[in-house]
Amino acid sequence: MSQYKGFYKKSIAERLEILKRDRHINPDYFGSLPASTYNNMIENAITTFELPMGVSPNYCINGRQIVIPMVTEEPSVIAASSNAANIIKQNGGFTSSVISRVMRGEIAFVNPNNPQAIQDFIETHQEALFDNAHQAHPSIIKRGGGVQSITTRHITKDDNTLVIVDVLVDTQEAMGANMINTILESLRTLIETNTQEHALMAILTNNTPECLVHAHCTLDPSTLKFSDTIGQKITEASLLSKLDPFRTATHNKGIMNGVDAILIATGNDWRAVNAGIYSYHSRNGQLEPFTTWSLNDEGMICGETTLPLALGSVGGSIGLNPKVKLAYEILGFHDVKSLMECIACVALAQNFAAIYALTTDGIQKGHMALHARNLALKAGAKPTEVEALVHLLLKQPHLNSDTAKACLEQLKATHSS
Ligand code: MEV
Repeated sequence: MSQYKGFYKKSIAERLEILKRDRHINPDYFGSLPASTYNNMIENAITTFELPMGVSPNYCINGRQIVIPMVTEEPSVIAASSNAANIIKQNGGFTSSVISRVMRGEIAFVNPNNPQAIQDFIETHQEALFDNAHQAHPSIIKRGGGVQSITTRHITKDDNTLVIVDVLVDTQEAMGANMINTILESLRTLIETNTQEHALMAILTNNTPECLVHAHCTLDPSTLKFSDTIGQKITEASLLSKLDPFRTATHNKGIMNGVDAILIATGNDWRAVNAGIYSYHSRNGQLEPFTTWSLNDEGMICGETTLPLALGSVGGSIGLNPKVKLAYEILGFHDVKSLMECIACVALAQNFAAIYALTTDGIQKGHMALHARNLALKAGAKPTEVEALVHLLLKQPHLNSDTAKACLEQLKATHSS
């Protein structure tokens, strides 16, 4: 039996005990970010901003048992992720693999005098360009990465001609924003000097179609509620997310609930990753769902996702924030490809949880039970009163802060009489 069974019912101290038995956890990482650190991380710092950090323990990915650290303010995210991961684990778990992991930057020339001259320079001076790029950031070569290609792309629209110099870089374990931008600015000077053209800008792109990971899972409908219809309903939910743009948005938002929660926990730039995922899944001119579900010939439910995930496992604030270090200890690995694989599985699990609930009981049943906790806290319930108040609240026809306050009064009156 899993040591994490009934984890959500335990106290925080009990959960930590279970986690410490299973994972190597450094107690120092539970401290908060010191002022001496955060004051150097951003301008005009005044304090830190807290969010709850939890774990989703039931992931089985490529045969490995993984505990996923998540940071989120939304009550149902971790519950949904854990429940779905558990169901998927009983069905053999997830399979995930990185397709490619290369970052990209661009040097943009808008209406240059001689577009062909830029292209010719790039094509005929490859060695000098590569040398220049690597001299700008020599350590990436030592770490086994470096520039992979430098090419040109032309965009013509109306009377405008744009020449874009695309630079693909293997940034190894880093997300590599600073590395790429340093390389691009150095290349820009070299190209400008040799072509007498002026670039408008040189910057990495968050559209990262060369940074892809795939994940899939297969579920036997007989392991699910409403087993005779669930397969059909899940595929219909997938169809709906593809054909109705209003549903696409919500389908994808639910996926990002989980993806962002692990991105934040692992110190990644979640805005960059969101930009990349939305760009990739709009590449055919319309936003498409990030996951698809179908039935195979044996009637099994098959879920899959392909996501561009431009992540890092080092660099940025990753080495500075103790909670981020804690997140990697909980994961039990510290490499970018494993992280990409995990996040793709979190995306699938989060989406499965949503569409399984939506096509069966609806989501309000689960959401309201969690929402009641928030209402109980906001109404001023003491920790010892929360359980009883939640129990009482869930029996009420309308769940809101007034009801919570009234029920708390009622509880207090019962106990004092
Ligand atoms: C709520 O944060 C996310 C869901 O709306 C996602 C979905 O509808 O698929 C439940």
